[in-house]
Amino acid sequence: MWLHRVVVLFVLAILTPSLTAFQSCGQDKQCVPYEQCNEGLMVDGKFYPDRSRTTMDEQCHYMEKCCNIQDTLSTPTLPAEATNWPCGGRHDLWYYLRPLGYKQREAKFGEFPWLVAVYGAEGYLCSGALITPLAVVTTAHCVQSVEPGKLRLVAGEWDAAVELEPQPHQERSVTESVLHPNYTQMPLAHNMAIILVDKDTPFQLTPNVQPICLPPPQMSYNYSQCYVSGWQRGDFGGSAILPKRWTLYVLPPDQCRAKLRLSFLGRRHAHNDTLLCAGGDKGDFVCGDVDMAAVPLMCPLSGHDDRFLLAGLVTRTARCDGPQLLGIYTNVKIYRQWIDLKLRERDLDIRQYMV
Ligand SMILES: *[C@@H]1O[C@H](CO)[C@@H](O)[C@H](O)[C@H]1NC(C)=O
Ligand SMILES: *[C@@H]1O[C@H](CO)[C@@H](O)[C@H](O)[C@H]1NC(C)=O
Ligand SMILES: *[C@@H]1O[C@H](CO)[C@@H](O)[C@H](O)[C@H]1NC(C)=O
Repeated sequence: MWLHRVVVLFVLAILTPSLTAFQSCGQDKQCVPYEQCNEGLMVDGKFYPDRSRTTMDEQCHYMEKCCNIQDTLSTPTLPAEATNWPCGGRHDLWYYLRPLGYKQREAKFGEFPWLVAVYGAEGYLCSGALITPLAVVTTAHCVQSVEPGKLRLVAGEWDAAVELEPQPHQERSVTESVLHPNYTQMPLAHNMAIILVDKDTPFQLTPNVQPICLPPPQMSYNYSQCYVSGWQRGDFGGSAILPKRWTLYVLPPDQCRAKLRLSFLGRRHAHNDTLLCAGGDKGDFVCGDVDMAAVPLMCPLSGHDDRFLLAGLVTRTARCDGPQLLGIYTNVKIYRQWIDLKLRERDLDIRQYMV
């Protein structure tokens, strides 16, 4: 995946045995990540890299600037520590960091810092959400047939094709996958799992790695502005692998029941609160053709525009419902007590995801 970059570094290392490991983009200029180029603005002691693009910059990756060699910083200027943020919180530190041709369809770097990419031996499997530095929730369907020892979790990731982000991603191995005991594949029910990280190597909380809040079981949903965001399996292998992002609304339970009754799931699910429906404008979403396994559905906490809780996880590929989109999600709040119990049984702190 990072082979191209590795090869470039290797070749340059041979040609120029000096300090430089960056690709040249002109006389005394080299391609370096924005945060490592000391061309920008200092405002209130905070450094804002210059992210404007000139034709010079076009020779570099979109996350790099064609920077004067003498302006290259050996270590990037990073934002402050982020160990004490409340769950579901985020800061728009990288508002201007956008992929080429950005059309609001991709998440920004650090926009959903609890988003986790789950990999198996053969590559990307699905998305998940960080709830504590030691635990990720995802669907049972995603991890059921993979030994925990073969799973890898990557948090703080953005463009999975490169390693040029302003802050590094973090990778961890898995000690245990806890599947919901009543999970069944046919019919697809209780599609919920917790994946646990080795207690000795918790994820470090940084601005791009934060836990999301879990809703209490009695919470009622009335959300018109929620988001789904996560990677799409079909993008892997491309030159940019960015998490997608859509705005959705959660359907009231009665409308969801009606949809489920009429849908492919049939009568069996007609009165079932373990599932959540979310709809939205179909837009350029290709219905039924998008592999977005276990992608989180995130809604703002009431009274906070910029704090989020985990409402659902994609359990069924979204379908087109006329001009609208209909997605079926595992209703996370139903599993809150089970998640609490499984973490407590293992002496894990559950306060991080509490609202
Ligand atoms: C699984 O299903 C059984 C039988 O319906 C029920 O008693 C039990 O509470 C369920 N387990 C969980 C964790 O919900
Ligand atoms: C959702 O909340 C809005 C504003 O608080 C309210 O006007 C609307 O009736 C609510 N919808 C439902 C289905 O409860
Ligand atoms: C919802 O459906 C699942 C699977 O069919 C079943 O185990 C569960 O008991 C149902 N819940 C309700 C409230 O009907």
